[in-house]
Amino acid sequence: EQILRLEDTFAISTETLKKITKQFVSELYQGLTPEGGDIPMNPTWCMAFPTGDETGTFLALDMGGTNLRVCEIVLTEENGEFEIIQSKYRMPEELKSGTGEELWGYIADCLQQFIEYHHEGENLGKLPLGFTFSYPATQEYIDHGVLQRWTKGFDIEGVEGKDVVPPFEEALKERDVPIKVAALTNDTTGTLIASAYTDPDMRIGCIFGTGCNAAYMEHCGEIGKLAHMKLGKDTPMIINCEWGAFDNKHAVLPRTQYDVIIDKESPRPGQQSYEKMIAGLYLGELFRLVLLDIHTHEGVKIFEDQDVSKLRKPYTLDSSFLSAIEEDPFENLTETHELFQRTLSIDAKKPELELCRRLAELIGIRAARLTACGIAAICTKKGWSACHVGADGSVFNKYPNFKQRQARALREILDWDTAEDGKWKRKDPIEVLAAEDGSGVGAALVAALTLKRVQEGN
Ligand code: BG6
Ligand code: GLC
Repeated sequence: EQILRLEDTFAISTETLKKITKQFVSELYQGLTPEGGDIPMNPTWCMAFPTGDETGTFLALDMGGTNLRVCEIVLTEENGEFEIIQSKYRMPEELKSGTGEELWGYIADCLQQFIEYHHEGENLGKLPLGFTFSYPATQEYIDHGVLQRWTKGFDIEGVEGKDVVPPFEEALKERDVPIKVAALTNDTTGTLIASAYTDPDMRIGCIFGTGCNAAYMEHCGEIGKLAHMKLGKDTPMIINCEWGAFDNKHAVLPRTQYDVIIDKESPRPGQQSYEKMIAGLYLGELFRLVLLDIHTHEGVKIFEDQDVSKLRKPYTLDSSFLSAIEEDPFENLTETHELFQRTLSIDAKKPELELCRRLAELIGIRAARLTACGIAAICTKKGWSACHVGADGSVFNKYPNFKQRQARALREILDWDTAEDGKWKRKDPIEVLAAEDGSGVGAALVAALTLKRVQEGN
């Protein structure tokens, strides 16, 4: 009974996916107008794909939702070849709700450590840095970006509404770190650029990770909000959609009571409606809220006579918890049982484990299906009937069946015929391909393209 109710709550039909996609297309257009809309559609000032001739040594800093990664990338003269060394640093949880000064200081410390470790005693001059800053930013030029608002649960004071580059460079200067920010890019832009470096059919870069977003190459003639700049109408410009903000007005997304709670309890209620239904940061929390609801309110209760105090703690489960449940063979669910014991101190019974398994699937399926709407919408807007989409992020790379579920939803939305037995046997005209570790390389390539433009006087 409970499972049937949950299926009803989380299932999204083909018709609904199509309706969402239609609305998505119109929001993409709206975001490009001077009036704007829910989806920011930010011009990035990345105005070319790399040719493969880019050379030089660049640093890349990747500030995502979970990790901080510093890379040094050497673009060689071999077409499309590069060498990379990298170090990963944890983004301390406290930093996400601290002050701007603490944030920039921490990042500058990591860069300093990286340089001291790899280049001790060397005279480096000023190294150009491609900074992947994966939050919505208004850019008037490439090494500038005013943070529109924090997303992915960040809530650092004093940063929103300001250019993030000067305080960051200030923190570097204070520590004598020889670095100059050459370009500020979003992770989706970096993913697109890096993917296009090795695959000429790439048209869209996506992240399905802690957050969810996409970037694609637009023509300036289509970007009404840049009309006053009189850029040639065929001039290319990558647009960072920031599609997590799709349907902030709640016109089409089939939000459940659990989505409403997630939004209400988040640091930025009313923002990122689409992202909050699909991104890795929220999947475990959705799962937790449903279980707690069934435990507390429903007729057929779960975890009766169990201590659920750990389950009551917000954001105690991350998306890897759901991945592990989905990976556990359905027959006995021993791993799931152990996981509940270890993480939540709950001794779950067989029917409860089966319910949890189905719930994890339903949340995972809903997320993957919804992401297909965004991809279908960009392709529809651009009239692309066949292309490649480069994707990165923990959900895309690690969540079981995510890719298959997403691909299936794309087929449903775009009415690609399935074979008579219901199985799809052909190659999809629009394919979403893994672009692992792309955004660091992408940021370095953007920095290289920028320096080339500067040298050419453009
Ligand atoms: C990484 C990219 O691989 O994926 C980052 O290099 C990106 O730029 C990240 O932000 C997204 O995944 P997650 O799961 O860390 O949010
Ligand atoms: C959030 C950010 C966006 C980023 C995405 C994936 O949606 O706002 O900038 O691209 O997460 O990391």
